[in-house]
Amino acid sequence: MSAITDPPEIRPRRPLVVVSNREPYQHTRARDGSIQWSPTTGGVAVALDALMRERGGVWIAHGSGDADRDVVDEHDRVIVPPDHPGYTLRRLWLTEEEAKQYYEGFANEGLWPLCHEAHVRPIFRKPDWERYQQVNDRFADVIEGELPELAAPVFIQDYHLALVGGRLRRRQPGVKTAIFWHIPWPSADRLRICPWRREILAGLIGNDLIAFQLDRDRRNFLAAARESGFEVTRNTVRMGNRIVAVKAVPIGVDYDRIQRITQDPGLGAEQARLRQELGLDTPLIGIGVDRLDYTKGVLERLDALELLLERRADVRDRLTFVQVGVPSRSSLPSYVDVVEAIDRKVADINARHGSGRAIRYRKSSFRIKRLVALYRLANFCIVSSLHDGMNLVAKEFVAAREDEDGVLVLSEMAGAAQQLHDALLINPYDVEGFTSAIEEAIDMPRDERRRRMHAMRRIVAGRDIFGWASDILEGLEQLNPRALPPAPVVRPAERERLSVSRVRIPPGAQPS
Ligand code: G6P
Repeated sequence: MSAITDPPEIRPRRPLVVVSNREPYQHTRARDGSIQWSPTTGGVAVALDALMRERGGVWIAHGSGDADRDVVDEHDRVIVPPDHPGYTLRRLWLTEEEAKQYYEGFANEGLWPLCHEAHVRPIFRKPDWERYQQVNDRFADVIEGELPELAAPVFIQDYHLALVGGRLRRRQPGVKTAIFWHIPWPSADRLRICPWRREILAGLIGNDLIAFQLDRDRRNFLAAARESGFEVTRNTVRMGNRIVAVKAVPIGVDYDRIQRITQDPGLGAEQARLRQELGLDTPLIGIGVDRLDYTKGVLERLDALELLLERRADVRDRLTFVQVGVPSRSSLPSYVDVVEAIDRKVADINARHGSGRAIRYRKSSFRIKRLVALYRLANFCIVSSLHDGMNLVAKEFVAAREDEDGVLVLSEMAGAAQQLHDALLINPYDVEGFTSAIEEAIDMPRDERRRRMHAMRRIVAGRDIFGWASDILEGLEQLNPRALPPAPVVRPAERERLSVSRVRIPPGAQPS
């Protein structure tokens, strides 16, 4: 007799509003004047696009493509993905100066190195901070204008938009917002470097829910909030009469989509093209896929590969290492420096070893299908971040290996290492140990490769991008079990007539 279970409860879904700095699709003008589009790379955009394709709604982001304005309607909206319309992208425009100070300056020269322990000094400038506040305000304005109803969940992404939740709540006190902080949250000591840490904390606490990748980040955040005078419990922060939930919800990948790509009959042809273009004719292939960022440990990886080539004469002519480097934030000196150092190191290794072609370096982004083809060509994949919130390349590689082969060499400083215990974990600062792990990957018997990959695939499949999103969004719904009936949004003109109650904040932590 089979057990009878209740059918799952199907709840109507409210339209979702996603907000991020980086847009999921960019339109650019080609040399011949035609307009082209491309999906943007980087963990956040790829992960959230999968969610929006499935769920629909509005995604608000900075329109940074040079033809972005040419394709939007009079409300700055365009339907995406361009080849498979699924949701609305609402673009917000930034002047060059705004982008320079808010995005390059405060977000990427200040907060990014503050949160990643990779030995690049955070730079905090007052004008950048002022601009960051203004731009966060502009995002809040646009969200307010796009809110379909007050109960629509607003899902804010990452360190560019720390103040948006608080700013939006000032305009619409009943709004429901969650923010996901995709990068590590620093220890209280390190956070002290930031002159405006209290304002950043207060801005984040303006949300209903704050989610981090790891429990370590959640604990660091709560410690900083307590130190700044907020009332804190194990997983909440109180601000005035509001209780804010603080959770750790590790992000995943779109596992099913990657499975579909692995089963695509065209994958073999894509692999053949890659082999030809990259001249891959050795029996052993290693790969690395990274944004060209100093946090990714690409130089440390090249050091380990060089030591491997010195140590192992038997590997020298049998191994090709493919490094895909996606150019990123290229106008910042810290990025220019690391890119130049990688160029020099690759040239140096190739001049000294493996008949000049040991490292095949491609500075470009790969679309997901090509990436999956590359993942499937590899005997091993190296992720050697010096510090990383999660690292979705590690999870994509595992998701692509439906053949249960291939070895993942993974930095213990990447968030993914907290879940993927069957990777070969390395310390990127320990060149000897790192090199030994690559040797182990090369020499690993098939049975062990299968066992490890099988175990990692269960984990990656069990925590995909949709599970991640629903943990956060359902968490947001449950904060207020007697959820508000759909309420009209108070438009700015009316709001002036209504009094908005102010929340009490601890001394020194002004909401910004
Ligand atoms: C990381 C950040 C994202 C960012 C991505 C690409 O994954 O957490 O917020 O979008 O890098 O960086 P970019 O500066 O090009 O948006």
